[in-house]
Amino acid sequence: MSESILAITGPTSGIGRGTVKVLATEFDRVLLLVRNLEKGAYLKEELLELNSQLKVDIIECDLSELSSVRDAATTIKSRFDHIDCLINNAGIVSTSKKESNDGYELMMATNYMGPFLLTHELLPLVLNSERKQIVVVSSDAYRFAPMKKPFFKPKRFSAVTGYGRSKLGTLYLAQELHEFYSHKGLRTTAVHPGMVSTNIGKSNVSPTVAKIVFTLLDPFFVTIDEGCQSVISAVKDPDKYAGFYSDEGDIAAVKQYGSDFKMRREFIDATLKELNLQAL
Ligand SMILES: NC(=O)c1ccc[n+]([C@@H]2O[C@H](COP(=O)([O-])OP(=O)(O)OC[C@H]3O[C@@H](n4cnc5c(N)ncnc54)[C@H](OP(=O)(O)O)[C@@H]3O)[C@@H](O)[C@H]2O)c1
Repeated sequence: MSESILAITGPTSGIGRGTVKVLATEFDRVLLLVRNLEKGAYLKEELLELNSQLKVDIIECDLSELSSVRDAATTIKSRFDHIDCLINNAGIVSTSKKESNDGYELMMATNYMGPFLLTHELLPLVLNSERKQIVVVSSDAYRFAPMKKPFFKPKRFSAVTGYGRSKLGTLYLAQELHEFYSHKGLRTTAVHPGMVSTNIGKSNVSPTVAKIVFTLLDPFFVTIDEGCQSVISAVKDPDKYAGFYSDEGDIAAVKQYGSDFKMRREFIDATLKELNLQAL
């Protein structure tokens, strides 16, 4: 049997960090795809304390930059021939209009374009593994707004619709993976982890505002340990969740824009064209 390998984005905070700490005893090797190498090194030490046998590789990957995603994928492909489970977890909320270096709206770049390209690059390795699993951390925010052209460089900025569209994109990505690769054994799940008290969105506002807003919202949030359970369940039970949307662990119907096949087709085709790819 080959060594089991987990690759995860955004493992240095929140849901990703909680998830990888639990899964540290489930896999032989973990690839930590991080934008901050120092945080990655700190996390590696923590994981080794939990499982001294675990092999941990830190891979630099800024998902908001396509060149960084390509470099990360090249590094991974030069070292490994398979990945058992890829968790696309990293994500941001931006409260002001920002552009990535590639000229995309920053949430669309970080939450969708980078993960799409990463998934495309690593898919052959996942399909070459025994487990063949991809978990996409999406969000119920997919219901916030339909996709609207221009998809990646919107004329008007709204934090709410911008975040919602980027998460709708991740849901479409999961659906495409299931539709086109499940016959090859790929098991894909999109997960809404619930409203979880993490760092997301907090760096965008002043510490005082963040404290007031998040203290007010706190009763509605679950803890990180609770929030990562749905991701962990999806990883541990790929057959149960394959092809489904997990809403905090419950298999749930995808509504509104999430089930608009025509919209998905148009959006995915536009993504492939933008990234100069023939297929996912
Ligand atoms: N929290 C919620 O209520 C909630 C609800 C639904 C869905 N989600 C989704 O859950 C996922 C995890 O979010 P979280 O709540 O755990 O947030 P978080 O605590 O802010 O963690 C986000 C992670 O993503 C990483 N990241 C951010 N920008 C990146 C970039 N450009 N390149 C690479 N990595 C990057 C962060 O790295 P650093 O440590 O370097 O910042 C961090 O590890 C996101 O996809 C989010 O949309 C969250």
